[in-house]
Amino acid sequence: LENGVARTPPMGWNSWNTFGCNINEALIRQMTDAVVNSGMRELGYEYVVVDDCWMNPNRDSAGNLQGDPSRFPSGMKALGDYIHARGLKFGIYQAPLAETCAQYFNSYPGATGSLNHEAQDARQFAAWGVDFLKYDWCHPSGTIDDQVRTFAKIRDALRDAGRPIVYSINSNSIHDKTGPRRNWSDVANMWRTTEDITNKWDTGQTNGYPMGIQNIVNVTVPLASYAGPGGFNDPDMMEVGRGGMTDTEMRSHFTLWAIMASPLIAGNDLRNMDAATTTVLKNASLIAINQDSLGLQARQISNDGTRRVLAKRLANGNVAVALFNQGGSTTTVSTTASAIGLTGSSFTLRDAWTNGTTTTSGAISAGVPAHGTAVYVVSGGGGPAPTSFSLVSQNSGRC
Ligand code: GLA
Repeated sequence: LENGVARTPPMGWNSWNTFGCNINEALIRQMTDAVVNSGMRELGYEYVVVDDCWMNPNRDSAGNLQGDPSRFPSGMKALGDYIHARGLKFGIYQAPLAETCAQYFNSYPGATGSLNHEAQDARQFAAWGVDFLKYDWCHPSGTIDDQVRTFAKIRDALRDAGRPIVYSINSNSIHDKTGPRRNWSDVANMWRTTEDITNKWDTGQTNGYPMGIQNIVNVTVPLASYAGPGGFNDPDMMEVGRGGMTDTEMRSHFTLWAIMASPLIAGNDLRNMDAATTTVLKNASLIAINQDSLGLQARQISNDGTRRVLAKRLANGNVAVALFNQGGSTTTVSTTASAIGLTGSSFTLRDAWTNGTTTTSGAISAGVPAHGTAVYVVSGGGGPAPTSFSLVSQNSGRC
């Protein structure tokens, strides 16, 4: 979506994965402080997103949305001010239909969606200082056309409200496994590619509920041609730092999100991260790959079911390459400089985890543990910058 924001994948934190409906203003303030105190803000984490269950289920007498008076007694504008005062941006959740997804959770009453209140709610969000809207269909009904029309209503209302707001959507096209996937880049800045993520490596789902890391990668990799500045595939908020995975899997998860040009939205409790989690979320080399100005999502170079190679062209002509072992034991994963679009006879590989470098005449290879991902930035060669990673259809050639 060409609305001036999300020229690179949005980065930040979202309340849902760890806290679900158990949110309040003190918690969001603490998490805001933690983005700053952990050093994450300096690395680009920016949006603090309050997910579902912030609302008073009743609008006020003028029909305006309002925060839940017991959880957000200071009001949503004050929360936005707090976040802005710390150099961060304010995100909020809402739904396009009559109720938010909280309707499905007994612990919280179904809250009021934006149906037929689009212009009023967009103005309200702008007045509160909202910088990011997560808009969640969360209903089994709705044709693609219904959804496009409805999602476009608040897209236009946000534009008319005059504040730059990242527009993040979750359509229910994810329930439609038979038809072609829609490219939502005309409607939103980011769009979910699957059902909800869970804190596991693999749930065996192809596109159901809940999705593990491996399952989400399988669905999101083929959508690479949709990604570009202003619009990104969204494989959901990260599960880094939530347990449920080995450290190798956690590093793989972050590496794959980074190279897929996915929004990097942390979902863990930032107030008490262990060292392994902090190292992952603060990997500056991977963040640089993710935030590269071309905004390209890695293209698949090869996948034999066990060994999967993904490559992402960068603005300076270098190529980031991920060697992903999907199997259950250590194996060697390989590609070549020419397979990832580079020409020449001598290349430097910089390991994005250690920053150590090696040189090669073309072979790119690593022994990778089960569920691990080796990742290198490949430079050199002296040939022209590769063109094969431009925004072309995934089906129109190798890249
Ligand atoms: C849906 C979304 C989640 C979260 C919940 C909130 O399940 O996919 O990311 O926003 O709703 O109710």
